[in-house]
Amino acid sequence: MSAPRGQFSSNIGFLMAAAGSAVGLGNIWGFPTKAAASGGAAFVMVYLILAFLLAYPALMAELTIGRYARSNMVHALRTIAKGPVSRFLGGLTGFGGIAVASLILSFYAIVAGWMVAHLAEPFASLFGATDAAQWLTGDSTARNLTFTAIFSGMTMVIIAAGVEKGIERWSTLLMPSLLILMLLLILYVLSQPGAMTGLEVYLMPDLSLIDPELMLSAMGQAFFSLSLGVGTMLIYGSYLSQQESLPRLGALVTLIDVGIAFTAGLLILPAMYVAQEAGTQIFSASGELIAGPGLILQVLPALFNEMGSAGLFVAMAFFALMVIASLTSSISMLEVPVAFAIESLKVPRKAATSMMGLVIFAISTVIILNFDALFGLVISISTEWGQPLLGVALCIFAGWIWRRDQLLMELKEGHEHIESTLFWKIWPWYVRIVCPLLILAAFAQSVF
Ligand code: PFF
Repeated sequence: MSAPRGQFSSNIGFLMAAAGSAVGLGNIWGFPTKAAASGGAAFVMVYLILAFLLAYPALMAELTIGRYARSNMVHALRTIAKGPVSRFLGGLTGFGGIAVASLILSFYAIVAGWMVAHLAEPFASLFGATDAAQWLTGDSTARNLTFTAIFSGMTMVIIAAGVEKGIERWSTLLMPSLLILMLLLILYVLSQPGAMTGLEVYLMPDLSLIDPELMLSAMGQAFFSLSLGVGTMLIYGSYLSQQESLPRLGALVTLIDVGIAFTAGLLILPAMYVAQEAGTQIFSASGELIAGPGLILQVLPALFNEMGSAGLFVAMAFFALMVIASLTSSISMLEVPVAFAIESLKVPRKAATSMMGLVIFAISTVIILNFDALFGLVISISTEWGQPLLGVALCIFAGWIWRRDQLLMELKEGHEHIESTLFWKIWPWYVRIVCPLLILAAFAQSVF
């Protein structure tokens, strides 16, 4: 007999964990900067539509498969497969998910490490350690390795503690703190000169900018933001009790994720224009808004510096927000390979966590040592290729390979009178046909 499986103790616990996975750097950094760079509210509108029409149905496929099979992605997809060929494909897709989740974590931990270093910087300044402060915000290999290791260590400590005492407890503690910090920061930034221009850029739609490229970028963002394709939501679904309604919880996770991304825009864009008002360059030489690492690592810190001593506290609050958001996401990524090692390789949780955590840290190290060649490449392979392709595979497993009666039975668990809902009438067909086709269409466009 193997050890009993972990389970979330309540639906709130699941909600915090799943929303914690979804809400991350993708929401606070990726979404607002993509919106700023591609048409403000036009992007926001397309994103909202795609999140509900495409990402939510795909999320439901993962949650349903996970809760039914009550196991990691490899075993789950093999369980719902019918014959040897589909079992083989299930295993292949499952391993693909584990590989892509690990790759995402390997670059995510580097970026999150920058956030931890920037969080430490105001403390160093406060104590007059100027050299240390400079090292913390500099861009040395030693700094990157140190802070990636620290962040990976934090992730491993939580995962080693298990589903209820690790994932659920920390997500339930960190998610409300994230919201409070973000709201306080928004209030502060909106009271500063220049903020309203940023708000306008964010909220005034320029509909002429809606084109296939914008739709593709919005789809990629929605997939990344809802942590789809790689088995994170599948494994969290597998820890959920049969008494809860999947369509409702899935919708809530989507709403929270979209809501926080939207709210983060109310912080980041106004903050950029406040920085401009204070004399910081926010447009690149070619006239585009600085979006990538330059925004979080240069524009905003320059703004915090301008603010004098208040700036130290605002910087602490901002980078604490980023670290919290990253941590509730990174634990969900690490849980994917760890759950596989526990269930399929029969390794105890602590050993599984050390093993997988160290392998992923080794990949991060290789990326840091070959940053220019590998960083962008790993992001592109895992998020632009891996996630959408695996998303299609999961929809096909839910819609075509899995026995229909079992899928429908699982949906009914915990949801009385589901037969009268719109979800019941649409989703089982939608996930079979519309979802894979839409994802593939958008994907094909990016490739050809
Ligand atoms: N959803 C996270 C974010 O928006 O930052 C990123 C992420 C988490 C992607 C977990 C994939 C994953 F499995």
